[in-house]
Amino acid sequence: MFGETDYDPLRHYTPVGFEEQLDALERAVDAGKIRYIGLSNETPYGIMKFQQVAKSRAGNLQIVSIQNAYNLLCRNFDLAMAECCHNERISLLAYSPLAMGILSGKYFAEDGGPSNSRLNLFKGRYKEGESRYDLSKSNVLYAAKSYLEIASRYGIHPVSLAIAFIMRHPLVASVVFGATKVWQLEEVLAACKVNLSPEIITEINKVHSRFPSPCP
Ligand SMILES: NC(=O)c1ccc[n+]([C@@H]2O[C@H](COP(=O)([O-])OP(=O)(O)OC[C@H]3O[C@@H](n4cnc5c(N)ncnc54)[C@H](OP(=O)(O)O)[C@@H]3O)[C@@H](O)[C@H]2O)c1
Repeated sequence: MFGETDYDPLRHYTPVGFEEQLDALERAVDAGKIRYIGLSNETPYGIMKFQQVAKSRAGNLQIVSIQNAYNLLCRNFDLAMAECCHNERISLLAYSPLAMGILSGKYFAEDGGPSNSRLNLFKGRYKEGESRYDLSKSNVLYAAKSYLEIASRYGIHPVSLAIAFIMRHPLVASVVFGATKVWQLEEVLAACKVNLSPEIITEINKVHSRFPSPCP
């Protein structure tokens, strides 16, 4: 699963089996190279199947985390995956918390944002960024602008709104962000200290119900 919007049985591919993957991971645990197992870009089916196979084995294999995209524009985790993770005691490592920088608001500047920012630097050459966070789609554009508008109305930095929204999620263990400049790192770290009021969360959820997870 990587940004797809639907499951097409005809495009189903045959991955390396769950048993075989866990065999390799068990060897790494036994050798002391890793302690726990984390999944990434998994689906509810993948999470439950890995867990079922891991628990059926004699060893003490523990799946403790999943690294999936999670941000204001991509809340697919909040559906079935959250239920699976809660019940299986698996934490989310939320990647792309700023939707690759879009939620900072910089791409909405009149000049299209800094020429050295990722989506400008790699325009036309960045498949994941451009297909997943496609600002030419009206629902992605309106949702992003609506979140920026909430931040402005409540006097919060947009980066703080985006990061604090994720940090408050009870299943999130960590936020995997990308900073390419020191000032960005400082902004994101400051955002970790921000608490969003119930009123702001209600506003966010209103936008979410109008544009539910516009980015896959
Ligand atoms: N498991 C997976 O399949 C998977 C997939 C994707 C990512 N990841 C991991 O997750 C990490 C983070 O993903 P991501 O890079 O998409 O996260 P992100 O934090 O949503 O986006 C990072 C981008 O936002 C810009 N940015 C960061 N802080 C900013 C700020 N304060 N103001 C304005 N722009 C800011 C950055 O700089 P510029 O715009 O200046 O370049 C960078 O290009 C990756 O490095 C990778 O380790 C994992």
